[in-house]
Amino acid sequence: MGGVEMERRNESGAGGASWSVHEPVLALEVVRFLGADRPSELEGWIVDGTLGAGGHSRALLAALPRVQLLGLDQDPEILAHARESLAPFGRRVQVRRARFSQLGSALEAVGARRVVGILLDIGASSLQLDSAKRGFSFFADGPLDMRMDPERERTAADIVNGWDESDLADLFFYEGGETRSRKIARAIVESRRRAPFQRTLALADVIEHAVGGSGKTHPATRVFQALRRAVNEEGDELLAGLAAAQEWLVDAGRLAVISFHSGEDAEVKRFFAQGSSEGQWETLTRKPVTASREELLRNRRSRSALLRVGARTRRAQSVRGGGA
Ligand SMILES: C[S@@+](CC[C@H](N)C(=O)[O-])C[C@H]1O[C@@H](n2cnc3c(N)ncnc32)[C@H](O)[C@@H]1O
Repeated sequence: MGGVEMERRNESGAGGASWSVHEPVLALEVVRFLGADRPSELEGWIVDGTLGAGGHSRALLAALPRVQLLGLDQDPEILAHARESLAPFGRRVQVRRARFSQLGSALEAVGARRVVGILLDIGASSLQLDSAKRGFSFFADGPLDMRMDPERERTAADIVNGWDESDLADLFFYEGGETRSRKIARAIVESRRRAPFQRTLALADVIEHAVGGSGKTHPATRVFQALRRAVNEEGDELLAGLAAAQEWLVDAGRLAVISFHSGEDAEVKRFFAQGSSEGQWETLTRKPVTASREELLRNRRSRSALLRVGARTRRAQSVRGGGA
């Protein structure tokens, strides 16, 4: 992400540092779809509901000279980065701290009316994942936190130390796709009887002991993903974000959603399919768009990215009037 940022990233966790360029995933495709095939004429507001390092926003602003952009992120630390990176675009950009489920009130606050495009690039930013103190990483030790919005009450430690064994197992299975969820939940409950979990590496170690660590990915990957999704209520946010997009987009306005999780992608697919059958959406991507060979070679994170795009086909009853 953040096309110009290069950041040292230790992916092995064992001293084998590697350099990786963070760039927005599927950026060309996002610009093409949200540009609505007429980039120089498109006018109105685009909402980037998941601003992150601002890579997609920069690409959209550069390619679509007449649009204004409202960028949202729930994480104040991330917003500081994004503000800086979007500063060259001056008054074409408004940046606000908000969840994308609150897209409507954010649009009202900046007086935006004609919304021609919305992007949701779901999940965590590598700026968050790579920062040990945020507690997302099983490679670098940090507090077991995982809140993108620091004002949320519940942390990952609250879940790991407080939920029943069967609820933990269900969470790991349904939200992380972890097939060894019962074994891991049992090991966690046994370990927390001795001392509650407070740090990420302690949790990662218990998981590794429970299921071994021979695969390509770290054995804690799916459990950490499930915890992150629960802490940040990502499933509910996605549903609310899709509903808000349906309410706010103008006729022929486009919604692009990038997900990294098969359950999320299925939710987006279902939303567009139902919307199409009700005459609310035209689905522009029959199958999810995935990264090109070139992008896969350049950007590891693009491996699991799935993009779906729909066009609004009927003006919603409550759409807020005309001009930009
Ligand atoms: C995958 S990153 C986005 C990267 C971005 N597209 C870029 O080009 O750098 C996701 C970002 O969305 C934010 N986020 C996740 N869920 C959110 C939500 N419900 N509302 C607002 N921001 C959210 C995260 O804090 C994170 O910064």
